Amino acid sequence: MRKHVNRVFMGFALLVLLSVVISRNFSASAPPSESKNKPSLGESVYNSRCVMCHGSDGKGNGLAAAFLHPRPRNFTTGVYKFRSTESGNLPTDDDLTRSIKQGLHGTSMPDWAPFLSDDTVKALIEYLKSFSPRFATEKPKPVKASYPTPIAPATIAAGKKVYEKLECKSCHGSDGAGTDAVATNLQDDWGYEIDATNLTEPWTFRGGLTPTDIYLRIRTGINGAPMPSYAGSANEKEMWNLTYYVLSLGRRPLWSMNADEVKRHFDKLDQDAKANPVARGKYLVKTMGCIDCHSPYTKEGYLMEELLMAGGLKWSIGPYGYLYSPNLTSDKETGIGNWKDEEIKRGITRGIRKDGSRSIPFPMPWTSYANLKEDDLNAIIAYLKTIPPIYNKIPEQESLNMFAYLWGKFKMLILKQDFASISYPGNAGTLKGANQ
Ligand code: HEC
Ligand code: HEC
Ligand code: HEC
Repeated sequence: MRKHVNRVFMGFALLVLLSVVISRNFSASAPPSESKNKPSLGESVYNSRCVMCHGSDGKGNGLAAAFLHPRPRNFTTGVYKFRSTESGNLPTDDDLTRSIKQGLHGTSMPDWAPFLSDDTVKALIEYLKSFSPRFATEKPKPVKASYPTPIAPATIAAGKKVYEKLECKSCHGSDGAGTDAVATNLQDDWGYEIDATNLTEPWTFRGGLTPTDIYLRIRTGINGAPMPSYAGSANEKEMWNLTYYVLSLGRRPLWSMNADEVKRHFDKLDQDAKANPVARGKYLVKTMGCIDCHSPYTKEGYLMEELLMAGGLKWSIGPYGYLYSPNLTSDKETGIGNWKDEEIKRGITRGIRKDGSRSIPFPMPWTSYANLKEDDLNAIIAYLKTIPPIYNKIPEQESLNMFAYLWGKFKMLILKQDFASISYPGNAGTLKGANQ
C-alpha cells in the first residue's frame, strides 16, 4: 500500500478506524491511573468508541464527521431524534439505550450491543447527558402509544387518505420513495443537508419498524430534522391508520427478491438515474472519494468544509515532485467552469490534463475510473457543474531538481522504498483576495 494514498483517503480511514475500534479488545475498566483526574467509565469509553464521530466536546464534529451523512449527533443541544417523548422533549434513558444498543440503521451509527455491557451503556448515557445542561432542568413527557385501530385493508386505505391530507408526499413523494417530492434540499437544525427517508425501504428506519415506532415518529416528529410532529394536525385514529399505510409501502429488500424482481429493481434505478442525472452525479461524487481528495484539510486533519471540492490538497510523490488536487467547483477562472465536457471526461478516465499533458496513475485514480459508464460520467459532470464557484487558484505540479529526482528514483528502484507522502496542512491554493 502506498502511504500517500492512504494518508488522504479519509473515507477508507474511517472504515479502518471503525474496524480497529470494534476489533480492539476493550476492557470495561479504565486503565489504572495514579492521577486524581481519572476519567469516569462513561468518559473513557466515549473517548475510545464515540469520539471519532461525535467529537471530544460532544459537538458531533469528530474527525470522521465531515464524511458522514447524516452527521453524527451534536450532544450539546440536547436535541435527540428518536424518542418516545413529546415533540421537542428530551429522550428517556430507555430511548438512548435503544439507539446506542441497536444503532441507527442506514447511518454510520453502529449497533453497540455486542461490544458494551449494560453498565457501560448506562455510564455512557450519563456522560452524554453531561454535554447538555437541559438534562439537569427538564423532565421529558412520555407519550402513551396504544393500538386503537386493528390493521385491515380498510385501515390502510384510510391511511392513504391521511397521507394525502397531511401532504407527506411533499417530502416523501406520492410513492413514498421520493420520486415526485417537491421539498428537496432539506436541511437539519445544524445546517447540514438531510434527505427524507425512503419509506419503501423500512429496514432503514432508524426509530424502529413496529407500528408503535412509526406511530411515535408521526406523533412526535424527528427533533432536529424537518420531519414535523403531526400531533396537532391529525387525531389518534388518523395517525394509526397512517402508520399502517406507511408500513404497507415497504418493498422487499434486494436480498429476498427473485431474479426477475432484482432486474426490475435495477431497471428502475437506471431510469431514475437517467431522469435525474444531477442526483445520480451527486451520489457518485459523494461515494467515489472525489470530495476526500479534491478538498483541503486543516493541520489537525479536518476536512475544510467551506472549501469542499475547491482542490488544494498537496502530495509529495518521490521523484515526481509535488502534486495538488485541482479545483472542481464551477469557478470559471480557477475551477472547471470553462472546461469542455470532453476535457473533464478525459481527466477522470484517461489521466489527460486540460493542457493535454499526462497524469501519473495516482493520486488521481483515473485507472479505476477508466471504465465508468458514459451515463455515469455525464451524470458526474452534470453535478460538478452545479457546485457553486469557489475561486481557489491551484499551483501547477512542481518537479524536483535533477539531484532530488535521481535520489528519489534511487530510493524507489534500488532501495525499494515507498514514495514519500505529505498531506498538505491547510489549503495549497490561493483564495480570492489572498495577497499572493
Ligand atoms: C462511525 C460514527 C459513529 C460512532 C463511532 C458513534 N456514532 Fe452515534 N451517531 C452517529 C451518527 C451519524 C448519528 C446520527 C444519525 C441520524 O441522525 O440519524 C449518531 C447518533 C447518535 C445518538 C442520537 C440518537 C438520537 O435519537 O438522536 C446517540 C445517543 C449516539 N449516536 C450515541 C453514540 C455513542 C454512545 C457512541 C459510542 C459508544 C456512538 N454514538 C458512536 C455516528 C456514530
Ligand atoms: C418537510 C418534510 C417532511 C414531511 C412533510 C414529512 N416528512 Fe417524514 N421525514 C422527513 C425527513 C427529512 C426524514 C428523515 C429525518 C432524518 O434523517 O433525521 C423523515 C423521516 C420519516 C420516517 C422515518 C423515521 C425513522 O425511523 O427513520 C418516517 C416513517 C416518516 N418520515 C413518515 C412521514 C409521514 C407519514 C409524513 C406525513 C404525515 C411525513 N413523514 C412528512 C421529512 C418530512
Ligand atoms: C486519491 C485522490 C483523488 C481522488 C479519489 C480523485 N481525485 Fe481527481 N485528481 C486528484 C489529483 C491529485 C489530481 C491531479 C492529477 C495531476 O495533475 O496529475 C486529480 C485530477 C483530476 C481531474 C483532472 C484535472 C486536470 O488537470 O485535467 C479531474 C477532472 C478529476 N480529478 C476529477 C475527479 C473526480 C470526478 C473524482 C471522483 C470520481 C476524482 N477526481 C477523484 C486526486 C484525486
